[in-house]
Amino acid sequence: MGTTAAARGPQPDDTGPTRHPTARRDGRPEPWRRTAAAAGLLAGGVPTPTVFEAMTALAARHGAVNLGQGSPDEDGPAWIRDRAAEAIRTGADRSNQYAPGLGLPVLRQAVSAHQRRHYGLELDPDRQVLVTTGATEGIAATLLALVGPGDEVVAFEPYYDSYAAMTALAGARFTAVPLRPPHFLPDPEALERALGPDTRMVVLNTPHNPTGVVPDPALLGRLVEVCVRHGVLILSDEVYEHLVYDGRHHPVSAVPGAWERTLTVSSAGKSFSLTGWKVGWVTGPAELVAAVRAVKQFLTYSTGPAYQSAIAEALSDGDVFLAGQRDRLRAARDRLLSGLGAAGLDPVVPAAGYFTVTDLSAVGLDDAAAATEALAARAGVVGIPVSALCTPGAGTGAHRLRSWMRWAFCKPMDTIEDAVRRLAALPTVSAD
Ligand SMILES: Cc1ncc(COP(=O)(O)O)c(C=O)c1O
Repeated sequence: MGTTAAARGPQPDDTGPTRHPTARRDGRPEPWRRTAAAAGLLAGGVPTPTVFEAMTALAARHGAVNLGQGSPDEDGPAWIRDRAAEAIRTGADRSNQYAPGLGLPVLRQAVSAHQRRHYGLELDPDRQVLVTTGATEGIAATLLALVGPGDEVVAFEPYYDSYAAMTALAGARFTAVPLRPPHFLPDPEALERALGPDTRMVVLNTPHNPTGVVPDPALLGRLVEVCVRHGVLILSDEVYEHLVYDGRHHPVSAVPGAWERTLTVSSAGKSFSLTGWKVGWVTGPAELVAAVRAVKQFLTYSTGPAYQSAIAEALSDGDVFLAGQRDRLRAARDRLLSGLGAAGLDPVVPAAGYFTVTDLSAVGLDDAAAATEALAARAGVVGIPVSALCTPGAGTGAHRLRSWMRWAFCKPMDTIEDAVRRLAALPTVSAD
């Protein structure tokens, strides 16, 4: 059986007192335990690796094609990598020393110019842009800066796992609103029902991981209206903004009424296939960005300047690469979708991003987490159970979507072809 800790929900002793050396005398869970439990990463009171690490190890053990982790196998353009290498080698502009806490001016200016060119948004690079160590640090700093004990954070589920984990670290309550098959579109009425007097922040993610859904401006407008009516802040995660294959990206902050309450996080990792560089940014009204900075400066203080200056050039000169990348990923998506279809599945057609999701019950597998070992061993493919991207436990998305699997297509075409050949064996796999 391949049940992962992330997918199996909390165990009775996950959050309670244990004899662990860090356990508190009053029995309250320590911050690390709250954080891990929120992501379903506690087993028997000890932290477990993320599902991404577990699935990568599983793929390696069986020599299976790894469509689990969302990182490309091919690095981004050589000309961007050369810029960073040169900056490190020459040390020009102090590129091996601490960068300013806000980020290099050249990158903040490039982010500002990028927002104007792509979306018509005007940002002051000195007050409305903050460079972070990946979008992940932007999310962490935003939640730690703006929510705390007694507050509630609401997000649509399934979701990128750091939202729940960082909300727990901040001491706030996390509430998930279901995205439902077959279309997985966020429902403004369901959002409205979830918001209460303690709700402080709503997290939106467009384009969406893992479904690839891109809400149109009308739907975004209705979601924002709900947030305005309830006076809540918005954290908008837009890391897949350049990987839209059908239609185009619409920034939440451009929706009428959104700007003054919205912090947007994005990063270069997905756009330029440089996920290891961890160069991201937070944009929004000056007062909100200053609040996030107050926390961010005590997390990493700043991000490697050689990477920052190279990404500044990428944002300014990278549109041709981005167009080609969209074409490559669209072709990979379409090939994987046809392979999944031929294997008897009915994949969701993602308008954007790195992933598609499928319901494995169509081939007799009702528990995707339990089926991972059999899929790796007998079919030779590995995905990520969607339940791992949901709040653990009964009655949550982890239960509703337990037969769903996420598959990554941010891979070279020969890897996708290999996966498609192996997926043909899917109907013969049954979980023991
Ligand atoms: C929705 C979403 N947000 C944020 C991130 C993290 O971005 P970064 O690598 O820039 O920290 C990811 C990475 O998988 C993601 O899927």
